Order: sequence, then C-alpha cells, then structure tokens
Amino acid sequence: MTSLLKSSHISQRVDELLARMTLDQKIGQMTQPERMACTPQDVKDYHLGSVLSGGGSCPGDNLPADWVEMNDAYWAASMEADDDHLAIPLIYGVDAIHGNSNVRGATVFPHNMGLGAANDPELLKRIAQATAREILATGVDWTFAPTLAVAQDYHWGRCYESYSKNSDLVSAYAAPFVAGLQDNLGDDAVVGCVKHWVGDGGTTNGIDQGETTLSEEQLRAVHIAPYHPAIEQGVLTIMASFNSWNGDKCHGHKYLLTDVLKDEMGFDGYIISDWDGIDYLSEDYFTAVGLGVNAGIDMFMVSEDWRNFIAHVRTHVEAGTIAISRIDDAVRRILSVKVAFGLFDKPRPSERKWSNHASYGGVEHRAIAREAVRKSLVLLKNEDQTLPLQNDARILVAGKSAHNRGHQCGGFTVAWQGVRDNESIEGGTSVWEGIQAVAPNASLSADGLGLDASAEQHDVAVVVIGETPYAEGMGDVRSGNDVIVQAGSQIKGLLKVLEPYGDSLELARSHPEDLAVINNIRRAGVPVVAIMVSGRPLVINQELAESAAFIAAWLPGSEGQGVADVLFGEYDFQGRLSFPWPAAEQPGDADAIENGPLFPFGFGLSYKA
Ligand code: GLC
Repeated sequence: MTSLLKSSHISQRVDELLARMTLDQKIGQMTQPERMACTPQDVKDYHLGSVLSGGGSCPGDNLPADWVEMNDAYWAASMEADDDHLAIPLIYGVDAIHGNSNVRGATVFPHNMGLGAANDPELLKRIAQATAREILATGVDWTFAPTLAVAQDYHWGRCYESYSKNSDLVSAYAAPFVAGLQDNLGDDAVVGCVKHWVGDGGTTNGIDQGETTLSEEQLRAVHIAPYHPAIEQGVLTIMASFNSWNGDKCHGHKYLLTDVLKDEMGFDGYIISDWDGIDYLSEDYFTAVGLGVNAGIDMFMVSEDWRNFIAHVRTHVEAGTIAISRIDDAVRRILSVKVAFGLFDKPRPSERKWSNHASYGGVEHRAIAREAVRKSLVLLKNEDQTLPLQNDARILVAGKSAHNRGHQCGGFTVAWQGVRDNESIEGGTSVWEGIQAVAPNASLSADGLGLDASAEQHDVAVVVIGETPYAEGMGDVRSGNDVIVQAGSQIKGLLKVLEPYGDSLELARSHPEDLAVINNIRRAGVPVVAIMVSGRPLVINQELAESAAFIAAWLPGSEGQGVADVLFGEYDFQGRLSFPWPAAEQPGDADAIENGPLFPFGFGLSYKA
C-alpha cells in the first residue's frame, strides 16, 4: 500500500498542490494542535493539517453527534478556500486503541494484552473493522493504533497496550489489524498509526518514556520486527516514541526515523510525533524544533504551543537550518496520505456513510467484543474441577471489580486514566451482570467484601480482583526513585516522570484488599474462583494458593458477559499466555530468573483434557 503513495496519479496531484502552497501553508500541514487549544478559525488562519483529541478530550456531551458536529466545523474551516487559504481537508486523530473508547456508548474491546492471549489474528481484523466503523460514526478519520510495543518488563504502565512479550506474536497481529482499519482505503476505512517507533516496550525497569539499552541487532530483532508487516500492509502513519535508544531520544534520531524507517524499510507515509514529544530534545524549544524536523518527523503533535512551533519552523527555514526540501518531503508525505485515503473526495463528516450510524455501540459489534473476551481468558488453575460452574449453583460474587465496568475497561476509556464506575460505561455488562443473567441463585456480596459468605448458603464464590485503571507513566510500578535517576542519567535530553501506580508487582502488596476478601470467604469454608482484572501479569502466589480456580481476565472491556460464557462451560477456555507469568518481582530477584516463570509463555488450561 505504501507503494500506492508513490503511484503517479497520487504524486501528480500532490506535486500540483505543493507547487501552489506558501511556506505558511506547508508548515500548517505539519502542525497538529489538541482540540482544546485551537478553533476552526485557527485551522483556516494557520492552515492546520490536523487536530487531535487527547485521552478524554471530548466535545459537548461526548456523544457521536457532538463529535460529528465538531468535525464538521474543523473540516469546513479547512476547506474554505480564499486568496490566503488552500482547501486541504483536515484529518482528525484520536486514541481509539480498544474501540472508540473515549466516546460514550462505544463498544469497548479488550485491551491488546488480552487479545494477545486470544491468539486469533482473524478476530483482530474483525475488531479493527468494527472499531473503524465506530470511529467513522463520530466523523473522525484517524486512530493512533495499533500499538506494536513488545513489552518486556511488567513494571511498565503500558504493558496492557502490548499484544505480547514475544515479537513474533506482535508481528502476526500487525498486518491484520492495519488491514481491518484501513480496509482498502474505501468508505469503511480509517487511517491507522502503528506506534511507538521504536523500542517503547524495552526500557530499563519498564520506565515509561525511559531508556532502551540494546544492540542494534537486538532492537531490530525484537522491537523493529513488527513494523515490517505493518509497512507491507500499507500502514499510512507511524508515531515516534518518547523513549531513548542507547541514550538518544527517538524523536531526534535521524538514523532511526529517516535512514532506517523511511529509506531502508521504505515507509512512504508520514511520521507523527508523540504528545509534545520534541519538547524533550532540548531545554531550548527553538533547538528542539530543528532537531525534530531534521531527524525526519513529518507532523508534530503540539498540544498547546503550536503557534510557537510554527514560528520556529519558519525561522529555521529562513535561516537555512531546516532545508525547504525537508519541509517539502514532510508535506508531500502528508498530502499523499490524504489523497490516497480519499480525504479530498469525501463530503463533510456529517454527510459520510457511517456518521452517527446505528451500528455504533450496537449488538453486532458488542458480539465481537464478547467473543474476544471469551477467547482472551486464561485459566491458570482449576482444582478438583471447580469449573465449569453449574447454572443453578448458589454463587456468591465478590471483589472490587465484580460489578465495575470501569475497572474492566482500564485506561484510555472515556477519560485518559479510565473510569472507576458503571455509569460512565454506557452499554455493556459487568462480570456480575453476566453471571446474574445465567445463574438464578447468584448473589452479589455486600460491599464486595465476602463477609456474608457461608458454607450453608453458598456452593462457591467468584471473586473479581486486580488493578484499578491507569494509563502510561501513571501505570508504572517503581520500587523507588533511584530507578528514575539511573534511567535519566543515561538519557541525552529531558525525562518526564509521572506519579507511579505503586511500588510492587505483588498483588498482596499493591491491593491487599483482594487477599482479604478471598480469606473472608475461605474462612467461611466456601471455595473461591478468582478472576483477576489487570493490565499485566502480577505476582499472585498467595491469592493463587487460596483459590480453587484462577482466571487471568486482563482488561476485558465493556462486554463482561464474555466471562460468564466460559465460567459456566458454554464455551471452553482457549486463551494462552502471551506473557510468561512471574513467580516473583522481576528485576533484582534472581529467583524469578533462575527458576523461570510461574507459568510459561503459551500456558493455559481448558475443560477438555
Ligand atoms: C500519549 C501517548 C500516545 C497517544 C498520544 C495522543 O502521550 O504516548 O500513545 O497516541 O499521547 O493521546
């Protein structure tokens, strides 16, 4: 597909346009502010090429109609040609990384870690197609997905955005998901964006935006590998990564961005920076702008200070420190994607096929998500055939995530850091609601604590435990700030540090309430089926020992009913670990390395022998 971008009919159209563009119009195409920092009038006045919504940045009442109305306004401004402004349609970008999950009522699919366990590339394509339609329903054209991180250290707050610790599995998913999103670039397509280039999942101690220290051979074998099938599939955009490689920031890395990605691997689309990603290249913003543009980034996600960015690029070009040929290369790439995607030929967003479409959040897409939940569950333990449960069993359902669709969805859902309630996730089912629908003798424990368990009244308890939502660096687990100092000392440039999620991967330390609930129930003589909702494997030795059965549910999304489908045996478990399960806290604990994982990559029990 990327050779499509070089085809003559596209090149001719782009060259004609480029020849008519002023320097300001070219620089405008390279600029992507956040929606809260720019108006439709700004789009016209500064010839802006793109606008984005950061996580949780939603117009009006955050319904599809509000998004379509917003996109109509931005699009109309970009198409209002006059003596100063050329009609070049704006492209709007969002993080629809597990469904169009910012928006109320969207179908929220399992995060990538669970999809990795499902190990079903064909399902991935259907998820991507359904996601594309729910993005188009809101008048949006472009999603910053799929993430191709190959997460290595579970201390990283973005592990759940990774399909697997195994590079081959991530590679197997790259093309199907891009194909599902971009769908031959017809009316059912959105523009995909694989990220983050490169080595985001390989940082020391899993520090988000930290330092990835690897030989070039290792970097290529583990972290670059999945980009090959994505480029062959024709992915149209790629996002640069915050992390550093051997001390040098990826956002300023000409070898990685231009020599390897564009020249050697033949990527003909455009590279977008991450959120203010060039800020970390230098304390002097003017210098940072020059470094980012000259390294090979084509479009710049500049959340607020975009006017300054534009002014600095113009000054660099006038001073000769950014060549006009670099500007023309960037703009040619951006225009080629917009032409290949058919953006110039589409009507205003509100008049497009999928805008405000009834399929948004509908039964068809939710059925796909429910199937994905079923296929993602991994059965780690099933003593004395505790599972499958009988539908008429007297089941006590407990745990903080038993009835919490927000917990099920995790980060990048309605809000950047996710939500912690049911009301914010409109549609869908909690784990409890799924059980309640098929088990007439099930009851929800008061306050989820399990103190009402009794062997006389209950045959079994289902306890839903794990993590509460987080995103990016706020999901990091850090034993202490020494690891930050160590990482920072290796990085040329600035390091952004956010408040971490906790200081241990041991569930009993980070969430002692979970073991407490399990023990409340065990003391009453009732066997426990534990279901863990989490963004990563955790050290669960104590919780596992006290449970008769244990299921890794990852972050299943809005369709919690998929859990009940397997709990009661209507479907068998098929999930297999795409991340080995740790026996102990990772770095610094030799045992974990010498004794190997508690459960190896590919492990997963099922009902059939
Ligand atoms: C964030 C993330 C990136 C996301 C972007 C826009 O910082 O690193 O994955 O696409 O900003 O929200």
